[in-house]
Parts: sequence; C-alpha cells; structure tokens
Amino acid sequence: MSISHDNKEEPPCDGPNYRFINLIAHNAADTFASDIAKGLAAPQKYIRSMHMYDTDGSELFERITQDQDYYPTHAETEILARFAPEIAACLAENTALVELGSGSAKKTRLLLQALLDKHNHALFCPIDISGDFLRENVRCLSGDFPNLEILGIVADYYAGLSVLANEIHQPILMLWLGTDIGHADRNAAAGLLRDKMIPALKPGDRLLVGIDLKKSAEPIHRAYGCPGDKEPLRYAFNCNALRRINRELGGNFITEKFQRYCFYNETLGRIETYLKSLCDQQVTVASLGRSFDFKEGELVHLHFAYKYDQDDILQLGKAAGLKLQQQWFDEKAWYSLNLFAVA
Ligand SMILES: C[S@@+](CC[C@H](N)C(=O)[O-])C[C@H]1O[C@@H](n2cnc3c(N)ncnc32)[C@H](O)[C@@H]1O
Repeated sequence: MSISHDNKEEPPCDGPNYRFINLIAHNAADTFASDIAKGLAAPQKYIRSMHMYDTDGSELFERITQDQDYYPTHAETEILARFAPEIAACLAENTALVELGSGSAKKTRLLLQALLDKHNHALFCPIDISGDFLRENVRCLSGDFPNLEILGIVADYYAGLSVLANEIHQPILMLWLGTDIGHADRNAAAGLLRDKMIPALKPGDRLLVGIDLKKSAEPIHRAYGCPGDKEPLRYAFNCNALRRINRELGGNFITEKFQRYCFYNETLGRIETYLKSLCDQQVTVASLGRSFDFKEGELVHLHFAYKYDQDDILQLGKAAGLKLQQQWFDEKAWYSLNLFAVA
C-alpha cells in the first residue's frame, strides 16, 4: 500500500563519472504518511509543496517551465546564458556546485559549462527528493559532460546537506534556483539559510539564490495561471499531491471534486495556491486508517511564492548573516540571481 516511486529496491546504478547516495529509501513512505495525516487534520488544511513531486510531478513542473508565461525559468535562463562566465569568474579554483532541488538542471548546464570552460573538470552534486527524475537527469548530464563528476543525492534538502562535509573537500557554490526560496515566508527563508544551509558550508563558500522580484500583478498572474481554475497544466501539477496520496497511501480523492484556487496577494507580495473542495465530501486514506471531511469551498493550502524587492533581499542577507557579493538581473528586471558569501 505505501510504496513510493522512490521507495522500491534500486538496482546498482552508478556510472563511470557519476554515483548516487539515497537517503530516503526506507522511510519515505512513513514521512509522507505522517505529513499528510498532520496536514489534512490541521484547522487550515495543507499539503507541503514538496509532496507534489514524484516523477509525474517533476515532469508536470518541467512542462510548466516551458510555458512562455512562466517567466521565472525564462528570466533565470536568460541571466545564466549571459552571465555564467562572469559568475564562474567569481568562484575559487576547483569550486564544486551543489544544487538544492535541482529538477531537470537544464539551466544549471549553463553554469556547469562555464566552470568546465574554466577548469576542464568539475564536481556537481544535485540534491532532490524526486529520485527517479534525479537519476534520469544525472545520467543525461553525465553523457553530455564527460569531464563532470556527479554525485546525485536523493534526499530532502537538509538530510542531503548533512553528507556534504564527508563528501566534498573543496570550495562549494550552493545553488538554490527556480525561486524556491519564495516558498518560505521572508523571515523563515532567512532562518533556513542561517540555520540549515550555512552550517553545511565553510567560510569562503558561496550561495547563488534565484529570487523573483515584486512587479505588477499581471505577469505574475499569467506565470502562475491565475485565476487558478482556468489552467489545466498547473491544475494537474497541483493535483499530483492528491494522486500521490491515492497511489501511495490508498486514498480515494476524486480530483475532479477539487478546483485550483490561486491569486497574487499584493499586500503580502506573494502568490497563494490552494485546492478548493467543490462540495461537502469525505476522503478516506486507507494506510492512515482515517477519513477527512471537506466542506464545500474549503481550501487546502499548497504553497506560497514570495516576491522580493531590493530591501527584502538586503534584509534577507543581513538576517541570514550572509554578505551579498553580487547580483544579476534579466533585461526586464523581473528576476534576480544573488551571490552571497559565507563569512
Ligand atoms: C520548483 S522545482 C525547481 C526545479 C529547478 N531547480 C528549477 O529551477 O527548474 C523544485 C524542485 O525541488 C525539489 N524539492 C522540493 N522540495 C524539496 C525538498 N524539501 N528537498 C529536496 N528537494 C525538494 C522538487 O523535486 C523539484 O525538483
């Protein structure tokens, strides 16, 4: 009943220039189940956004990034296409790249190429919970970049970071792209950097963080497919959390009985994404041995996506104890890449 994509027995799958560490093989289903039990029993129901990702979820997200309205990916690609050599020039000799939530790592290729142009050899360490998707992408990368050594870590960010000290004995650039930092509120984001990420780094290491910028609501609404009920791809991606509960925990969610509800909250500078129950209904999750009641119109929170202005970014660095070393922007100045130095 509680078998996840990432939980099946894996054949040995290391290759000539890549290997994997899997830190979620044996307890992923338990963690997923307890998280879902907690989130659906809360007064404001929620499902953590990480649970939208398995292979299907990662593929759906990848399709969203190809939508011309999804500017965060296009802007980040534009910045890296233009400035990757300049970013590489800011880094110490022999710097290894560690990427949190690497996904397809398509944009990262631009930076990897710039590092390889500089040093001819590099180490890349992507960390992602979507294990099969990570493995597939590592294999593709290894074929395309024979001089790249890759250590793929299938793990939650923080578990993944805990192995770095044993595995990497050279300067690190930690990448957190795709504006994923925006899922945490601004104070919590600084806390994550300060308490979870910086402790995995050494003085002199660096962090490159993709941060989406505040702007008028219109392009943000188009990027996130708001109003939410009109957009089938983003709806399918969000519903993947429900489908995972059905598949992996024996749930009986009928996704058609939920609608996507998404809007930009200009006061708080954040996108808010929910699933809304279209009727009074009860859903049973067999492996939890319990049912959950949903009222018509009740919301299940999926994620926020916070947008920053320059003061917010400066404040983030200050609160996290990081020095903002350099920034790069796309032509429209809708998006930023921020290089922070660990003191
Ligand atoms: C929004 S996607 C971004 C992917 C890629 N960085 C990009 O910019 O296109 C988030 C990625 O982070 C991974 N992810 C989400 N939460 C995670 C967590 N807590 N630990 C590890 N990976 C996570 C997902 O599987 C997914 O690949």
